[in-house]
Amino acid sequence: MNRTHNNGELTIANINEEVELIGWVGKKRNLGSLAFLDLRDRHGVTQIVFGEAFDEILREVKNEYIISVKGKVIERESKNPNMATGEIEIEAHELNVINEANLTPMIIADNTDALEELRLQYRYLDLRRPVMQQKLITRHKITRSIRDYLDNMDFIDIETPYLNLSTPEGARDFLVPSRVHNGSFYALPQSPQLFKQLLMVSGFERYYQIARCFRDEDLRADRQLEFTQVDVEMSFMSTDQIMAVGEGLIAKVMKDVKGIDIKLPIGRMTYHEAMENYGVDKPDIRFDMKLVDLSEMVKDVEFKVFESALENGGCVKAMNVKNVAKDFSRKKIDQLTDFVKTYKAKGLAYLKVENSKLTGPIAKFFTEDKLAKIMAAMAGQENDLILFAADSYDIVCDSLGNLRNRLAKELELYDPNEFAFTWVVDFPMFEYDEETNRYYAKHHPFTRPLNGHEDKLLNDKDNCLSDAYDIVLNGYELGGGSQRIFEQQLQEKAFAALGFTPEQIQSQFGWFVEALKFGTPPHGGFALGLDRLAMLLTNSQSIRDVIAFPKNAASKCPMTQAPQPVGESQLEELGIKVDFDE
Ligand code: AMO
Ligand code: AMP
Repeated sequence: MNRTHNNGELTIANINEEVELIGWVGKKRNLGSLAFLDLRDRHGVTQIVFGEAFDEILREVKNEYIISVKGKVIERESKNPNMATGEIEIEAHELNVINEANLTPMIIADNTDALEELRLQYRYLDLRRPVMQQKLITRHKITRSIRDYLDNMDFIDIETPYLNLSTPEGARDFLVPSRVHNGSFYALPQSPQLFKQLLMVSGFERYYQIARCFRDEDLRADRQLEFTQVDVEMSFMSTDQIMAVGEGLIAKVMKDVKGIDIKLPIGRMTYHEAMENYGVDKPDIRFDMKLVDLSEMVKDVEFKVFESALENGGCVKAMNVKNVAKDFSRKKIDQLTDFVKTYKAKGLAYLKVENSKLTGPIAKFFTEDKLAKIMAAMAGQENDLILFAADSYDIVCDSLGNLRNRLAKELELYDPNEFAFTWVVDFPMFEYDEETNRYYAKHHPFTRPLNGHEDKLLNDKDNCLSDAYDIVLNGYELGGGSQRIFEQQLQEKAFAALGFTPEQIQSQFGWFVEALKFGTPPHGGFALGLDRLAMLLTNSQSIRDVIAFPKNAASKCPMTQAPQPVGESQLEELGIKVDFDE
């Protein structure tokens, strides 16, 4: 084997050169005395043309065989402008079979009708498809661009451990049993959060790591059990300065990978504004269709649905879906109603603009004057559909916010090739959970309260804001970060606010809180979800498409069949008895 070129390389400039190529056999076509074959590798495809002398050996050569070919570069008669090598072909004078291949369970081509389960079972073949190779190559370009940027900015790449102490950080931990200390467990990191803060205590000032993180969560299209963060931390920087580092990073990646100049600084909105206008804390700002709060306007309307929501301290919000009223039959609105019910809404009221008037089954509850006011507030025009949600603030935001995203997709209200970034800032410090009846950290317990909000940690949790920020792209949370607490007493107060007793703080976080006593610099940082960034920059529908070997939606690997039970002797060493009925 003495390969002279790859399969994406040869052009008209190479005419008459003697070359040797190696690759996988793609399409084969017989045209009378000539046979054509596509030779493929990760760089592309080259067309090889064989004379009659090769008839016999070509009958043996099947798709996905690996062959080597020696021949001469010649100009093609019928050129293919869609192919990098489309102007030439190789006139073969030697063919060697390097390895054979069975019939593959899926066709190796960009378009496939293979189900994802089969693709994951034969992932190595799925990844042989050029479209999948391009996704992983793009991911590599993103990582390289990120490393370039951070290296140039004097950040130091430092690894942190995978086998850690279990700490409550938000998601469920993955545990690893210890053989040496039977009955004890390591936890895999949900993120390197505490270690990167300790590296600031050590004086490294600027740290980064492309770090694998582990969270035992239910999987979705944008979530995996193990995923990768671009994890960054820095000392002596204001929030604006930290965000500028983050923006610069994103701008460089967009330029290097997509050739797009994004406008800096990236716009900001507060968490409160995001919820008010978009109903979610990761707004897709590629389209308008904002939510409008009508609570004040409809408080005297005698419509049971609105009345009971407002009496219970809730709100009424509405959204104008432009110019679709005629297309939205009763049945279609019922489908939308079922959709919002999955977000705990009780229903979805609507009005249509027909003949310049608001009409529909609930119109009878409103006076003419009230209808005119709603029309004005919603900027209603002919054929608009106005959708209402009345419930607790959270349910209204959640259901209309998600409906807004769904409708925008269905109605194609945005350009799928646009990239719209926004920061969301001033997150609440805490969120209250009705089920467990307690407050949780909205970001994590090491997040600094916004200047002036320190006293609210204990006295006014509902209004205590944090110096935390998320970066959002096209409706996805791409990353998040914050200034950190660097004073030991304030950190203890934050733990106390979350309901930890001094004994619990000592036993779970003593090692960390102690470090804050030895000269801790003010510090902060962020982490970007690398998989999500790669998913969005490759226009993929799922995060699985940009991970070489992901888990399926049921948290399994269809190729290795992990997870599986392990043998008795392995369990015995770990001091573990499995008590589980199938
Ligand atoms: P956070 O928990 O917001 O912050 O995570 C940062 C980013 O990581 C990505 N991400 C995920 N991607 C895929 N699958 C998952 N299961 C998953 N979970 C999170 C998201 C998210 O925005 N230590 C802090 C960061 C900091 O404060 O510096 C942290 O982990 O894109
Ligand atoms: P009902 O009075 O239950 O017949 O509902 C009248 C209309 O209001 C129907 O279109 C329902 O879908 C809608 N609706 C019911 N509950 C709510 C709610 N909480 N918010 C918005 N619309 C609702």
